[in-house]
Amino acid sequence: MKRIHTIAKMQHQSDAWRSAGLCIGLVPTMGFLHEGHLSLVDHSLKAADRTVVSIFVNPLQFGPKEDFAIYPRDLERDLNLLSRRGVDAVFHPATAEFYPADFSTFVEVEKLSKSLCGPFRPGHFRGVATVVTKLFTAVKPHLAVFGQKDYQQAAVIRRLVRDLNLDLRVVVAPTVREADGLAMSSRNILLSPAERQRAAALYEALTMGRKRIERGERDAGRIIAEMRAHIERALDGSIDYIAIARADTLEEVAHIAGPVVIALAVRLSNVRLIDNIVAAPCGR
Ligand code: PAJ
Repeated sequence: MKRIHTIAKMQHQSDAWRSAGLCIGLVPTMGFLHEGHLSLVDHSLKAADRTVVSIFVNPLQFGPKEDFAIYPRDLERDLNLLSRRGVDAVFHPATAEFYPADFSTFVEVEKLSKSLCGPFRPGHFRGVATVVTKLFTAVKPHLAVFGQKDYQQAAVIRRLVRDLNLDLRVVVAPTVREADGLAMSSRNILLSPAERQRAAALYEALTMGRKRIERGERDAGRIIAEMRAHIERALDGSIDYIAIARADTLEEVAHIAGPVVIALAVRLSNVRLIDNIVAAPCGR
């Protein structure tokens, strides 16, 4: 497995693969890898001839009061996991090269960035859209794989690829969960054992919500209230939001008339967990 640290070397490697007619898959990550990340890697290994995983904790997508400094990191462990999985190259750029001191160009996907997590994390999706665009121009992939775990992020990236005519295919792979349903996340390790145990309530609430929709409930407010009650009973966290939004535009709905995403964000001590599930009324 190659370890590539500079943008020029990455571009050079990708140009060589492209000249040889090989299809390149990219899996962007911030490291501290778990089975969720590795499921995206497996997808790329199957779909592409060469797989590049990027590991870069992107300062641009963290707010000033967020967890950039304590975001878990373990590069050696990540490199071992990826090498054993059969990845061709890891791209691990230095922050100073990625964002030189006079860096001043940003990518902003309007509308889709405004709902759900948007108001709680100002600038977050601008940071994501900017870094992902730079990863695309460094790695030049034919295909890029993202997780449904970050539903809004995947929607933002699809829109960015479409709007800027980027010549690559975006694939969104299903959320990988722990045995009790908690979505795998690099941040789960920051939970105390008691919090970790109670965090299963998030997925329980999401599946309750989906069941209610499938059984005919159309009033989003009623479903959200039940979900909120379930989470508040189970854990002592602060709920940023529980929302039901159109699956395509991410606009929140009061009345459910088509496919929706039920999404939530909850803070447990210092740790902000997000999760979502897609649901559709019967026959839609
Ligand atoms: P990170 O949180 O490391 O996630 C990298 C990719 O793994 C994302 O596409 C995310 O949706 C996916 N992922 C995370 N947990 C998952 C799970 N349990 N099941 C399936 N996929 C999962 O998301 C980011 O990094 C960053 O914002 C990034 C896109 C790399 C830009 O900096």
